[in-house]
Amino acid sequence: MENKVAFVEYTLKGEDYQHLGDATLSTREKIEETIQNYDCYKNFNEKKDFLRCFGICSYEAESNIIIHSHFGILKTTILCEKIKTVAVDIGPGIESLLLALTPGYSTASKQARDLGFGAGMGLINIQKISDFSIISSRKGKGTYLFFEIWREVVTDFGRIEMKTKEIIEKLKLKVLTENSELSIEKEISSAYASDLLSNVLAKGKEESAWLTVQTNINIIGVAVIKRIPIIIVTEDTNVPYETIKKAEENSIMIAKATSDTFETSGKLYELLNLR
Ligand SMILES: Nc1ncnc2c1ncn2[C@@H]1O[C@H](COP(=O)(O)OP(=O)(O)OP(=O)(O)O)[C@@H](O)[C@H]1O
Ligand SMILES: [Mg+2]
Repeated sequence: MENKVAFVEYTLKGEDYQHLGDATLSTREKIEETIQNYDCYKNFNEKKDFLRCFGICSYEAESNIIIHSHFGILKTTILCEKIKTVAVDIGPGIESLLLALTPGYSTASKQARDLGFGAGMGLINIQKISDFSIISSRKGKGTYLFFEIWREVVTDFGRIEMKTKEIIEKLKLKVLTENSELSIEKEISSAYASDLLSNVLAKGKEESAWLTVQTNINIIGVAVIKRIPIIIVTEDTNVPYETIKKAEENSIMIAKATSDTFETSGKLYELLNLR
């Protein structure tokens, strides 16, 4: 019999970009908090990867409801042996699942694309990262998505090389956030450059630097999920106050580079690889 530990449920409203990611982050916090009290999670050394996979899949499911649907529910059940999530919404449904599951296919609106969504990779990410998933949809009715993340042991989290503090000095970055003490001491060994949120979720390494010109509030949700300590905003791009505030609340540092992504990446690559 499945051993139920906790259950979390959130309602989601279409186009509520302001709160996109909140349900996933709260659920992840709840999971972290709950599993501390359960015997079946004692000696839980696979925690990081288990939560990372959950975070990515849940964020993709949540963003799909907010971007493509009118109203939905994200329900997560924490069991001793796995996490199960149902993301169900009431319309408009998907006309062709075959198309929806084709990499790069997206019907995201201009507004969503401007915010960095619309790579057409979300459902593929869920299929790749989860241990089991099902999607079913009917045009005009709604969409049902179910995924499971199973427990497994992961040991290699990569090499750690350079403190963010050093990177800021060497690349002459301007730090925009306050209260970044936690992030300034973090060590990273790699970086990822992209303006598409799904790409960062799928391919960006945990605990690395993220280079982007995307500055809307949703980048912080992605950074939290991927445990990214520093977002380097390139090309001297303006960063809205609300993004800075949310970054500060989550102890994520935002630092600005005057050079473009290509040049900044080149310098950072050299720093992290040729020392
Ligand atoms: N809940 C949903 N309701 C209606 N359509 C959906 C829903 N989820 C996905 N779709 C459709 O499936 C397509 C592919 O979804 P997918 O998550 O892979 O990419 P995306 O959301 O367009 O972009 P990305 O997730 O990479 O930012 C969407 O563009 C949309 O047409
Ligand atoms: Mg999506």
